[in-house]
Amino acid sequence: MKIGFIGYGNMAKALSKRWATSHEIFIGGRNAESAAELAQQIQASGSGSISEAVEFGDVIVFATPANAVADAIQSGGGAEAFSGKVVIDINNPVNVPGGPHDNEGEYYLPTIFNEGSLAEHIAALIPDAQIVKAFNMCQASVWEMEPPEFDGRKLVALYCGDQSEAKTQVAELIDNLGCDPVDVGELKYARLLEASACIVIKFLFSGRDMRTVLNLIQPEVKSI
Ligand SMILES: NC(=O)c1ccc[n+]([C@@H]2O[C@H](COP(=O)([O-])OP(=O)(O)OC[C@H]3O[C@@H](n4cnc5c(N)ncnc54)[C@H](OP(=O)(O)O)[C@@H]3O)[C@@H](O)[C@H]2O)c1
Repeated sequence: MKIGFIGYGNMAKALSKRWATSHEIFIGGRNAESAAELAQQIQASGSGSISEAVEFGDVIVFATPANAVADAIQSGGGAEAFSGKVVIDINNPVNVPGGPHDNEGEYYLPTIFNEGSLAEHIAALIPDAQIVKAFNMCQASVWEMEPPEFDGRKLVALYCGDQSEAKTQVAELIDNLGCDPVDVGELKYARLLEASACIVIKFLFSGRDMRTVLNLIQPEVKSI
């Protein structure tokens, strides 16, 4: 796959590094030097601006802060530039007490979009793209694990979206990380994935190990 990253922070580093061995990666961002630095580290195919990343990728990963996504869409060339692309929304619009979006005071909640989810908001901004919510429920250090396994079990990575072809591609990317992809359903379930991530984030901010996860334990399938 040809994957364009928007952003070169913690999540872009973790995911792009793991995928660079089997996919063509382009790192895009506001600062060309920082994009080039990560591209060099992971031996990406290229680096440059946000619009170049969007042009390059069949799959685009939004790896900016949640409240910067709309801005990134504009920098990427607007809605038309994303037409036909698979867009992976990894972002958590979470209210962290004391943080920039703290309008509740004490709860870790998805508060930027009280109605629906960030993923559905993105889908409204770029209606001709195929949005898949994924990779939002674990800290970057979990995605860096090779593979992410807990108590000898693979991490179950939940995702959702409305287009099955796009979800098949994301499932492959999850599988590439050594995780077990599990489809939660349509994009409307993104509000639940975003809320679930808040539980993890609350634990992380209260001092738990950065690799704390909510994992789905599935029964072993017995052959008849
Ligand atoms: N960190 C985690 O463990 C983790 C886990 C799961 C999900 N997430 C989600 O993943 C997303 C990225 O998190 P992160 O930890 O990777 O963030 P980060 O390390 O802070 O990186 C954010 C990136 O976005 C860029 N950026 C900021 N504002 C931008 C704008 N207006 N337009 C374009 N680019 C912009 C930053 O570069 P410049 O400022 O130089 O442009 C930087 O490259 C967040 O939504 C977060 O909720 C994070």
